[in-house]
Amino acid sequence: MHKLGPSLMCADFGNLERDIKELDKAGVDFYHIDIMDGRFVPNFTIGPDFVKTVRNLTQTPLDVHLMVEDPEKHIDLFADCGVEMISVHQESTQNLHSVLMKIKSKGIKAGVAINPGTSIEFLDYVYDLLDYIVVMTVNPGFAGQKFIPSMYEKIAKINEKIKAYNRPIEIQVDGNIGASTIPSCKENGAAMYVLGTSAVFNSNHSLEENVKLTRTLFN
Ligand code: DX5
Ligand code: ZN
Repeated sequence: MHKLGPSLMCADFGNLERDIKELDKAGVDFYHIDIMDGRFVPNFTIGPDFVKTVRNLTQTPLDVHLMVEDPEKHIDLFADCGVEMISVHQESTQNLHSVLMKIKSKGIKAGVAINPGTSIEFLDYVYDLLDYIVVMTVNPGFAGQKFIPSMYEKIAKINEKIKAYNRPIEIQVDGNIGASTIPSCKENGAAMYVLGTSAVFNSNHSLEENVKLTRTLFN
């Protein structure tokens, strides 16, 4: 089953409630919330107060993508906002195994995100802790970038590894996910799709129509 998750950094912050209500009506599967610290990535986004606001607006699962240095220092802060999923970057921590244990100890699904230049071998010893793997299909930090084509092969290779480990780990793709990239992501084994400006948050159609159109790509 394929899951669609709008990326809320691309929402209209002045009309957040309206956007979330419309996306809920369209039946999205989760919300992806990008947290950036200006150090791990050269941009800033939002923090726990925003996540709490979103939590109060919807029952849909919340997926926090931490693009911050030393994420182990911030797990409590975000877990206590009532989110269902947290991913951390392999490149952002010296303590990948323990930070994943910490997320799991909070009763939250744990994910690892890897940048385009990061080898999948870095995940070899944490598969037993993982619920999902975020394949960054652009370099993280900004919406509106171009998909890096070699990431299709990376998705396929991770998919093979997951089968070998025989665990129910989902592959999430993040960055320029839309009509031109979804078919090949799907073919190679992606299950969770982060939808930003390329699929949902653009003025071509309403948010609800954009979700419907995106869903047709999975038929
Ligand atoms: C990249 C972000 C994505 C991005 C996706 O760092 O995590 O969520 O906003 O949107 P587009 O489609 O603009 O790449
Ligand atoms: Zn993200």
